[in-house]
Amino acid sequence: MPYNLLKGKKGIIFGALDENSIAWKTAERVHEEGGTFVLTNAPIAMRMGQINKLAEKTGSEIIPADATNLEDLQNLVEKSMEILGGKLDFVLHSIGMSVNVRKGRAYTDQKYDFTSKGWDVSAVSFHKVMQTLYKTDAMNEWGSIVALTYMAAQRTFPDYNDMADNKAYLESIARSFGYFYGKDKKVRVNTISQSPTPTTAGQGVKGFDGFISYAEKMSPLGNASALDCANYTVSLFSDLTRKVTMQNLFHDGGFSNTGVSNEVIEKFSE
Ligand SMILES: NC(=O)c1ccc[n+]([C@@H]2O[C@H](COP(=O)([O-])OP(=O)(O)OC[C@H]3O[C@@H](n4cnc5c(N)ncnc54)[C@H](O)[C@@H]3O)[C@@H](O)[C@H]2O)c1
Repeated sequence: MPYNLLKGKKGIIFGALDENSIAWKTAERVHEEGGTFVLTNAPIAMRMGQINKLAEKTGSEIIPADATNLEDLQNLVEKSMEILGGKLDFVLHSIGMSVNVRKGRAYTDQKYDFTSKGWDVSAVSFHKVMQTLYKTDAMNEWGSIVALTYMAAQRTFPDYNDMADNKAYLESIARSFGYFYGKDKKVRVNTISQSPTPTTAGQGVKGFDGFISYAEKMSPLGNASALDCANYTVSLFSDLTRKVTMQNLFHDGGFSNTGVSNEVIEKFSE
């Protein structure tokens, strides 16, 4: 149901890997709302190929960039402005990866070069993206930057492992950079704390299937899907949310404020 909320707005979308990706759904919805954008992902993800389909569908160009590499980011930002014909109005950071999780290392048995790599990819990359945009003066006034996060930043979910720490850091960057970006350029910066969602990154977390059903039963409105998240992101890119900044916004059907639900109590009364 398009509302033309992003007509004339330009941006960059990081992190569309396949059609389950939150960034993929967001790109489709931004396109429907009249926004134009460049798609980007790590060169290795490009080789897996599917992003071309999304580019065709949305009339977008693709520029590969490792979000931890400052040269790649500078090239991405400059080329995007050339392609789109001016400064940017929105940026989605939809990136996450823990090497410890991938290699099956427990939280209490981390390999610290894995920890550093995951921290760089999942958290510091958000700072690198914003610093590149900021120094290049690439954002229009009242632009909007969004990154995706998870509630393990506030509460412990044992199998989320070191991603919990990465998300806490990511959310802090949104607040800190949001201050400077707001003051200096009237750009807003927020994180969306999304429900568990069946994507490649999500399913990498141990016990994901049990966990997603638990969250579904705990949330009064049920889990928010990738499409729901895309819709919320569109609202944050639109002019309807100009004074929302430096926030971590829970988008989880009410999960984060629910102590327990009747469904969960019933399960334990069996
Ligand atoms: N799926 C969930 O349950 C869930 C819940 C809350 C938040 N999130 C967050 O949503 C975001 C998107 O994840 P998703 O669930 O759509 O999974 P996904 O696997 O589809 O997306 C993760 C993306 O990160 C990209 N990436 C990894 N390393 C990169 C690098 N060095 N440079 C650039 N890109 C890189 C991957 O190629 C991939 O496209 C992540 O921040 C994730 O933590 C996911």
